[in-house]
Amino acid sequence: MIRTARLLVLGLAALSLAPRAAVAQRQRLSMDPGWRFILGDQPGAERPGFDDHTWRRLDLPHDWSVEGTPREDAPGGGRVGYFPSGIGWYRKAFRMPAGARGRLAQLEFDGVHMNSDVWVNGHLLGRRPYGYISFAYDITPHLVAGVNVIAVRVDNSRQPNSRYYSGSGIYRHTWLTLTDSMRVARGGIFITTPRADSAGAEIVVHTAVEPGRATARRGTVRSIVLDGAGREVARAEAPFTLEAGRGTDVEQRLQVTTPRLWSLETPALYTLRTEVLDGARRVDVVTTVFGIRSAVFDKDRGFLLNGRRVKMRGVNLHHDAGGLGAAVPERVWELRLQSLKAMGANAIRTSHNPPAQEFLDLCDRLGFLVMNEAFDEWTQGKVAEGYHQYFAEWAERDVTDFVRRDRNHPSVVLWSAGNEIGEQSMPDGAQVLRRLVDIFHREDPTRPVTTGNDNIVADGHPTTLAFLNALDIVGYNYVDRWHERRETFADQDRHDHPEWRMIGTESGSIFQSFDERYSLGNDPAVVRPNYTSGMLQVERLWKWITLHDYFAGNFMWTGIDYLGESTWPFKGFASGAMDIIGQPKDAYYLYQSLWTDRPVLHLFPHWNWPGRVGQVIPVLAYTNCTSVELFLNGRSLGEKRLEFPAQGTSGGWNSYALPIVRPTTTDLHLSWDVPYQPGVLRAVGKRRDGTPACEAEVRTAGAPASIRLSVDRDTITTGTGDVAHISVEIVDSAGTVVPNADHLVRYSVTGGTIVLLDNGNLRDLDPYHTDQRHAFNGHALAIVRSLLAGTLRLTATVEGMTPTGIAVQVIDGSVTAAIPAVP
Ligand code: GAL
Repeated sequence: MIRTARLLVLGLAALSLAPRAAVAQRQRLSMDPGWRFILGDQPGAERPGFDDHTWRRLDLPHDWSVEGTPREDAPGGGRVGYFPSGIGWYRKAFRMPAGARGRLAQLEFDGVHMNSDVWVNGHLLGRRPYGYISFAYDITPHLVAGVNVIAVRVDNSRQPNSRYYSGSGIYRHTWLTLTDSMRVARGGIFITTPRADSAGAEIVVHTAVEPGRATARRGTVRSIVLDGAGREVARAEAPFTLEAGRGTDVEQRLQVTTPRLWSLETPALYTLRTEVLDGARRVDVVTTVFGIRSAVFDKDRGFLLNGRRVKMRGVNLHHDAGGLGAAVPERVWELRLQSLKAMGANAIRTSHNPPAQEFLDLCDRLGFLVMNEAFDEWTQGKVAEGYHQYFAEWAERDVTDFVRRDRNHPSVVLWSAGNEIGEQSMPDGAQVLRRLVDIFHREDPTRPVTTGNDNIVADGHPTTLAFLNALDIVGYNYVDRWHERRETFADQDRHDHPEWRMIGTESGSIFQSFDERYSLGNDPAVVRPNYTSGMLQVERLWKWITLHDYFAGNFMWTGIDYLGESTWPFKGFASGAMDIIGQPKDAYYLYQSLWTDRPVLHLFPHWNWPGRVGQVIPVLAYTNCTSVELFLNGRSLGEKRLEFPAQGTSGGWNSYALPIVRPTTTDLHLSWDVPYQPGVLRAVGKRRDGTPACEAEVRTAGAPASIRLSVDRDTITTGTGDVAHISVEIVDSAGTVVPNADHLVRYSVTGGTIVLLDNGNLRDLDPYHTDQRHAFNGHALAIVRSLLAGTLRLTATVEGMTPTGIAVQVIDGSVTAAIPAVP
């Protein structure tokens, strides 16, 4: 069940009635509700008295880019999907909660793209250039009794500053944290499990305590480990002394017997409750979720989780979710990750920047391994206004904040310092890398560091040996791009550098837009089955990866389509196994057939080809069944078999452990050339003994007749991170999806609001924020939510069809305390 956060706006009365003891401890209050926003620069808007009453009211997170319409002349161009950028201002007026006087106040931003300047009551707190980093300011000295005003100027006008869609604005959550003056430092908890097996675990906890404004003080850190059911399983106490104005680091060792290990199948989580005591008084309490597990990269065996070899079946993900831009509700990521898990993926690379905190929480809970990546640029630019402009001044600070934020996540097993970094080929590039690796190691000595290198053995400017030798893990982007490595991949390096530990950071893109899937070219005599492009390379890659234990795994480019990196009139990049609305594409089932054990059988393309009767159309199947028999309108078109890995004889000449398969292909897909006749294509997947394991069917659809709506869950909560995904399908009278239907669908909703209408078409440049959108290939998606409990009802209308409705029950969700705005 999703842990969503409904914002409880704290009334002042409520707080002042709260017992003093409760107020004395740490409070983490959402600052998301009630901001004013305006697009365009506003000289003087940092002043508290500035008149902002005409500005728009909104709640964070907010991404203004995706609210605009893509234009070919957008300053960021195709890199950001032709969406607008610019300068925007946010302001919020608020009162400090009762009892906050004398406490320390930290204002936290999970992500602001980019170059944010933040003022409190007219005092400039600082500028933070990097748009993907989480950061905080101590605002205690600037707070006043009465109304306080925060002003944030976001400058995303210098374009292009990212190679892919970034979003604009305060697109992640904001927080105000109130503490006593002696407290745990931000990012100051570091939990490691140097011994973690099913018999017992040693848990080492480092706690950084800050004096705040206190003079010299003594205190105690009490660390309590709670299991998933909230039961205490270990406890330690350690005294400390603070010298005036200086913090200290307290180390504690705790033992947990027979722990539940965090694994991909059962991602068991524990909670560390850290209490800071001043004498007998508890002055700070922090809870940190963590996992007990061992993660090891081995030069011969690849990656080991809890001592067991796990091949990383990874995907790269950018941080946008299509029309939601960079401000993505938690439930949207949850559903996307669940779909990737069902595909068999077990690892995510956060290409090419730090993700949202809640994204990593989800990876912890769902059981994914994460390669957590910092940068797409160091000192060498890829885009004119990119991070190279800030690297010298900010890299150490950004890496430190990044690692301290994320080092307790059990899902994070590897840091990536960068992607396709120019320094990889430069004579002094290794120096830059070593400096970064040192910072990663300083902040987290337990996890190795890699980079995604695209120029290993490249013609022209290959990656230097010094650079590769400075990495803990050698990361390969597109190892199969160069010469004979198309076939031999990393074998030569394994021979030359047997001590290297290796991973595929990025390879294997099945660039597959639905446009291609639904095109056979214009010449009826020559079929051009675009839907196969990229597939064969991926098959070759995965055969090699599967058979080479020393290679820890690979991250496919990409799990899901994303905005940006596009050429007009496309707004996004179609490399995903899932499209931009999270629907599986054909490629999804290739991975599923390779990465899961349940019977998989997927047949494509669709079977609506008017005007092509008699023409041969290649019909493909992705399967992990031993064989597949295909039928067209009941007539068998033959049985085909693949076998990978192939089994050899065992126990004597010509004897086999299992019934022998006589393969018809060495590919990892099956294909039949089928003269087109409308009707039903049916496939039966069989086991080795010939018994049916599963079936798949594709039917010729008739005329579009009605709208079919379905929802991912019929009950959602009022939590701000929760939404319902309503699938919209245009079907014929028999309920078959019409594969080329692109009707305009109009929507109305009661008891809630529409968050997004989309359709998976990367060429659809209509603005997102309307109440209508075309279907694409018979499909569309509506994402809805409600902040009030009750019944939400969505109605979809298409001209000439009966309007169709669907209801979703909304119940109260868990509540996150929030600071209200002063109107
Ligand atoms: C890679 C790069 C990715 C993306 C991809 C597109 O080389 O690392 O960010 O640009 O190419 O194919």
